[in-house]
Amino acid sequence: MATCFNFLVVLLLIISCSVESRFIVEKSSITILSPYELRSKHDAAIANFGVPDYGGSMVGNLVYPRNGSVGCSPFDGDSPFKSKSTRPTILLLDRGECYFALKVWNGQQAGAAAVLVADTIDEPLITMDSPEESSDADGYIEKIGIPSALIDRSLSETLKDALKKGDQDVLVKMDWTESMPHPDQRVEYELWTNSNDECGVRCDEQMNFVKNFKGHAQILEKGGYTQFTPHYITWYCPQAFVLSNQCKSQCINHGRYCAPDPEQDFSQGYQGKDVVFENLRQLCVHRVANESNRSWVWWDYVTDFHIRCSMKENRYSKQCAEEVMKSLGLPIEKINKCIGDPDADVENEVLKNEQDLQVGHGSRGDVTILPTMVINNVQYRGKLERSAVLKAVCAGFKETTDPPICLSGGLETNECLQNNGGCWQDPTSNVTACKDTFRGRVCECPLLNGVQYEGDGYALCEAVGPGRCSVNNGGCWSDTRNGERFSACMESGLSGCQCPHGFRGDGHTCEDVDECKERLACNCDGCSCKNTWGGFNCSCQGDKLYLMELDTCIERKNSKFGQYLTLLLLAVALSVGVAGYIFYKYRLRSYMDTEIMAIMSQYMPLDSHQNQTLVVHHEDEPLRQSSSV
Ligand SMILES: *[C@@H]1O[C@H](CO)[C@@H](O)[C@H](O)[C@H]1NC(C)=O
Ligand SMILES: *[C@@H]1O[C@H](CO)[C@@H](O)[C@H](O)[C@H]1NC(C)=O
Ligand SMILES: *[C@@H]1O[C@H](CO)[C@@H](O)[C@H](O)[C@H]1NC(C)=O
Ligand SMILES: *[C@@H]1O[C@H](CO)[C@@H](O)[C@H](O)[C@H]1NC(C)=O
Ligand SMILES: *[C@@H]1O[C@H](CO)[C@@H](O)[C@H](O)[C@H]1NC(C)=O
Repeated sequence: MATCFNFLVVLLLIISCSVESRFIVEKSSITILSPYELRSKHDAAIANFGVPDYGGSMVGNLVYPRNGSVGCSPFDGDSPFKSKSTRPTILLLDRGECYFALKVWNGQQAGAAAVLVADTIDEPLITMDSPEESSDADGYIEKIGIPSALIDRSLSETLKDALKKGDQDVLVKMDWTESMPHPDQRVEYELWTNSNDECGVRCDEQMNFVKNFKGHAQILEKGGYTQFTPHYITWYCPQAFVLSNQCKSQCINHGRYCAPDPEQDFSQGYQGKDVVFENLRQLCVHRVANESNRSWVWWDYVTDFHIRCSMKENRYSKQCAEEVMKSLGLPIEKINKCIGDPDADVENEVLKNEQDLQVGHGSRGDVTILPTMVINNVQYRGKLERSAVLKAVCAGFKETTDPPICLSGGLETNECLQNNGGCWQDPTSNVTACKDTFRGRVCECPLLNGVQYEGDGYALCEAVGPGRCSVNNGGCWSDTRNGERFSACMESGLSGCQCPHGFRGDGHTCEDVDECKERLACNCDGCSCKNTWGGFNCSCQGDKLYLMELDTCIERKNSKFGQYLTLLLLAVALSVGVAGYIFYKYRLRSYMDTEIMAIMSQYMPLDSHQNQTLVVHHEDEPLRQSSSV
């Protein structure tokens, strides 16, 4: 019976778990990665304190302290187990001599990233819980921020033997990815709680949690990401004792629904039935609010009630509760109807339902610890604290469907701050593929300012698609000299870099081609060639005009005979120069100086040439190339 409610002192109250308590040990997995011959996967029991890394995993070097392996006193030295390598330290400690939580706390203080507690007897795995009398714990329990787990004796012997050999690092992976089911894009979760605010540390803990988690819970609920349901445990009075004073003071509806006396003293203060009554009201607040699709108002009601109607201030009453409901705009009539008559000898539909749900079903197990969080029908283990619980809720979403809140502050692992999380990063800008999520960092090529990056995210991301040249020139070469800019990023191409015409290279570096030296152009008789950056300058003898696409010189003079002659010459040269022409066709930027156009129009019917590249050289202009298509 030890697993049934320990704070239950009135033995007359028997709960449904008395038949056969079905407590489920929630598990994570431990995989030995090294030494190689020990590679294997094992179960470990998640502790009910600290912060299990739901949805994540951790690989670390296992360390077993030579001195004080039970970890009941602080370890000597300044963070002796703080990892000196990139891998964190997972500390292995022996069970026994003190609270589990104290061992883990000492481990955390000594720099360990996680603690494994080795069971010392052969038995099925058990859940490590925090001490019931939390006053012994000096407040360290709340400060435990690392994960821990219990492993069975045979696994711990294997690990200790491997450590004793000492010739190889013992590398283990703690994995929580399968500890939380994540079947779809909505998480259903429940909090088994109690309106009693005088039960000591556990009640304070649960109220602080509700207050701190309220914001997150409401965002999730309003966004339709989650469906939250509050639950309240009730007991019942055995038939034979229904008329006893104890049952009368602790139960409503004729012994059907009971709660222990808050002070555990029947003669003073509030009675158990006051607590059941308020629990029922809170259930009805949720029900009624849910009917108008405002289920999240429950969080407001519960926190406001706690602040305004505390037992400690003697204000825990129906009247105070109704004031709170009024200020939240809740329909009091409807809620009272849901509550019904507590003195009537009838079932209350709401509380009956709660009693049925208390008994475990499916993967969940009985609810035997208060408060208990159930997420996707699995009991949450770990401390009841805002970010720890949010992490677990977030792990319940099917991957990639997590709402934005799961990726926001407080949950980020900040792994990207260190060495960019090992992800790709643009060497010249701060564009990175590293993204911190509650699941740990992911390396994913970003979508930034409308520019999509693609690649493996680790070694390479490249801007692709439209707009890519606007970002760091698409990773391609570009240079500007004397006001002239050339770029190897082709906006029309979807990826890759290509040196522009007049340059040669792989697109990441491009060098000017010396057209003159290589005799690629300006081979006309008497022409003088001068290489320029990105092009060349060819001058004809005398007053002649250089036609680049034909690599020839023509007369400027206007005469009828000359006109025909030149046209004929052009026709011949055109067929000869086709190869060179094609070479340039797609790469030459259209440039038509009006003056040149005027001259040319005397020789050619320009209209029919509009789609062709026409590149001319004019003395007053530097040579330019590009394509009009
Ligand atoms: C082990 O602990 C004992 C008592 O705490 C201490 O006297 C001793 O020096 C420790 N040994 C080592 C190797 O740290
Ligand atoms: C809340 O309302 C939804 C429908 O809007 C329903 O599916 C759900 O069961 C309700 N929850 C409770 C506790 O009544
Ligand atoms: C609440 O939402 C459900 C489904 O989303 C809808 O059918 C119902 O009409 C809503 N109720 C109110 C009162 O808006
Ligand atoms: C890069 O850093 C600058 C200033 O440091 C900032 O304005 C900009 O948003 C950052 N860009 C990215 C992609 O982080
Ligand atoms: C090209 O040559 C002509 C004549 O020699 C000169 O006037 C012009 O400035 C040159 N252009 C460039 C870009 O070098």
